[in-house]
Amino acid sequence: MTDYKALEQAFGFELFPKRDLVLVRGKNAKVWDQNGREYVDCVSGNGVANVGHCNDKVIEAVSSQAAKLITCPGIFYNDVRSTLLERLAALAPGDAKRVFLCNSGAESVEAALKFARYTTGKTEIVCAVRGFHGRTMGALSATFNPKYRADFQPLVPGFHHVPFNNFEKLKSKITDATAAVLLEVVQGEGGVHVATHDYLRNVAGLCRDSGVLLIIDEVQSGFCRTGKMFACNHFDLQPDMICLAKAIAGGLPMGALLCNDKIQVAIGKHGTTFGGNPLACAAANAAIDFMLADNLAEQAREKGDWLVAELRRQGLAKVREIRHLGLMIGIELQEKVKPFIFALLEDGVLALPAGAKVLRLLPPLTITRDELKKVAQTLTNILG
Ligand SMILES: Cc1ncc(COP(=O)(O)O)c(C=O)c1O
Repeated sequence: MTDYKALEQAFGFELFPKRDLVLVRGKNAKVWDQNGREYVDCVSGNGVANVGHCNDKVIEAVSSQAAKLITCPGIFYNDVRSTLLERLAALAPGDAKRVFLCNSGAESVEAALKFARYTTGKTEIVCAVRGFHGRTMGALSATFNPKYRADFQPLVPGFHHVPFNNFEKLKSKITDATAAVLLEVVQGEGGVHVATHDYLRNVAGLCRDSGVLLIIDEVQSGFCRTGKMFACNHFDLQPDMICLAKAIAGGLPMGALLCNDKIQVAIGKHGTTFGGNPLACAAANAAIDFMLADNLAEQAREKGDWLVAELRRQGLAKVREIRHLGLMIGIELQEKVKPFIFALLEDGVLALPAGAKVLRLLPPLTITRDELKKVAQTLTNILG
């Protein structure tokens, strides 16, 4: 049998803390390794497979689009792209009805930062401690964790980090030079911390009154993950820009930035080769249709509540706190999380860390009750 692991080690970069696992197949909430061993997947490609791995509707859309037109740059109009733009505008919270399509979360954040500076003529961006927005230089400048930033100085100037859920601290950093506030509604990589209603209401009011743009990063929380189409919907939050990616196209790489009419960008000031390509657009149209038809938002709410209630009921000894919104779940442990991630893998459940002590679960929203029970049972065995 080909040694895929050796090939990756020889010719890839060792950028990721790898698990000793070669995944070759997936269906809904299950994945299989090269030896045919089955796992319940609470990683979902890092929060991508909301509609399940290899969703039938996505397969169908991608297969038929692949035979028609795969690439079509933004200098031409395109049928599937125009349909997706209209669909995203219809789903957008508030009046963020103009869409820029790109290829990843970091790219959607980069676009938001450029659009904010261009629109306001100002440079400063206020973001949050524990916030995560990606690895490219602009997105990294907005990301908090020194572990990701330290080796890449100097980063883009003008970024300030203030404690999350602390309105007074945020307010104190807003000046005449502030272009935008950039926040996650649920901090994912930072440990699954949910914003409070008061905090978001106050931030939105302050931005409105002081002419500062509000950018919300829903790259991880978007597309039904938290029990609503977007996490903003829980808070009736209507940002000026919303960054999207991950689950948008059923597993294909795609990002999007939703903008309201305040955001003005002139021709030629930004661009992308692959952004809005017909293949990803066809996948996104199918994935979004599936989310709506199968009411994945409600499924995420109900399943997330069930799993968290089940885990809380067990009174698990190694658990400090469980935080969640829908199926975006963070289990803060008393100790380092890494050995527990490996123990879960041994028992057939894949999970993620979110910082040193938080175990994060981002299963496909299509996960079945039996699979959820298996996750609950395995966590109980390991964390009890
Ligand atoms: C909230 C948030 N923003 C941005 C990103 C970056 O997305 P990508 O890895 O697609 O560049 C991530 C990735 O985890 C994220 O969670």
